[in-house]
Amino acid sequence: MTGLPGFSAAESALPAIDVRSRPAAVAAALRIVDANLAEFGDRYPGDTTVRGRYRLRPPDGGNTGWTTSFWPGMLWLAHDLTGDEHYRRAAARHVGSFTDRLRRGADLDTHDLGFLYTLGCVVPYRRSGDQQACRSALAAADHLLARVLEPAGIIQAWGALSDPRQRGRTIIDSLMNTPLLFWASQVSGDDRYARAAHRHTVQLRDHILRPDGTTFHTFYWDPVSGEPLRGETEQGNHDDSCWARGQAWGIYGFALNHRHTGDESFLTAARRCADHFLSRLPADRIAYWDLEFTDGSAEERDSSAAAIAVCGLLELAAQSGAGEYRDAAGHILDALISGYAGDAGSSALLLHGVYDKPKGVGVDEGTLWGDYFYLEALTRLTVPGWAHPW
Ligand code: GLY
Repeated sequence: MTGLPGFSAAESALPAIDVRSRPAAVAAALRIVDANLAEFGDRYPGDTTVRGRYRLRPPDGGNTGWTTSFWPGMLWLAHDLTGDEHYRRAAARHVGSFTDRLRRGADLDTHDLGFLYTLGCVVPYRRSGDQQACRSALAAADHLLARVLEPAGIIQAWGALSDPRQRGRTIIDSLMNTPLLFWASQVSGDDRYARAAHRHTVQLRDHILRPDGTTFHTFYWDPVSGEPLRGETEQGNHDDSCWARGQAWGIYGFALNHRHTGDESFLTAARRCADHFLSRLPADRIAYWDLEFTDGSAEERDSSAAAIAVCGLLELAAQSGAGEYRDAAGHILDALISGYAGDAGSSALLLHGVYDKPKGVGVDEGTLWGDYFYLEALTRLTVPGWAHPW
């Protein structure tokens, strides 16, 4: 490979712009984590900031929704970045909340059990052998496995399996949830979880990834015949556009599924997602919320898509040996550091994300997942030998 779309060959070959800024960025991010820890402790911030500041997750800071695990996830990263025990203790305390969520059956009708229980329970199990965390993560994997729809072999993304609007639908983000299933097979010795994950990813490779390297946000299969039906967006600009965060989930998700299966076609899929993503970046390297938009648009950027893409590109580089993806990741991360990092006026690590523009939710705000993946990107590039949780 001589260069990447959106990056001149000379630029792709350069080391990242200013590596000296990364330790300062880590220090700044940790100051914000410290302030949020003082404010939220064992409770959970909302999905996004409101006018730049996180508030307690409505109604009372409890463990609901798809993003809560990014909070303890950040605390684990803070521990890995510093070795400071107080982060480890604060992170480990969340196992009780994730266990309780399962016991209460609260808000479990979602594929996002993968995000939730990988960071909420698999990480603490790996760190300390916490058996309760292991049991809870396995129980979450069972819930996720129960969402596999036959004969299509896809994991239904949202809602009850009986919900006619959601039945037979999966979404590109689901690629980030299959690592919980691969982990469950490793720990239990039962290969049903891994087989289901592999089959699901094959379906996304064949249908959610379009021939031109763009992706649908969501895709429906006929729940009775298993036939692929149609793509549809939920958070993108329109059904045929390419939602930036979805494309970033595609880079990282296909690369992770390749890591777990060795299926080369998933690495190719990750490359195709990456090449399109990079070809649509504006001059400052931070994608607009839909890749349909670029410089000259009055639309907002989605810094969270950029942070996820950095992690995905680093994963892709590690697995493919293509250093150009690593360089591209470094350029994007340095652009985030210099133009998008949170400041004293905000409680977000990363400013200017978009949750759901069509619905007007969390537009030009900090996001809990953007903060997590920004800190994961910084950890990947500043802690030698760091092993990611996915
Ligand atoms: N996984 C949901 C989102 O990216 O908005």
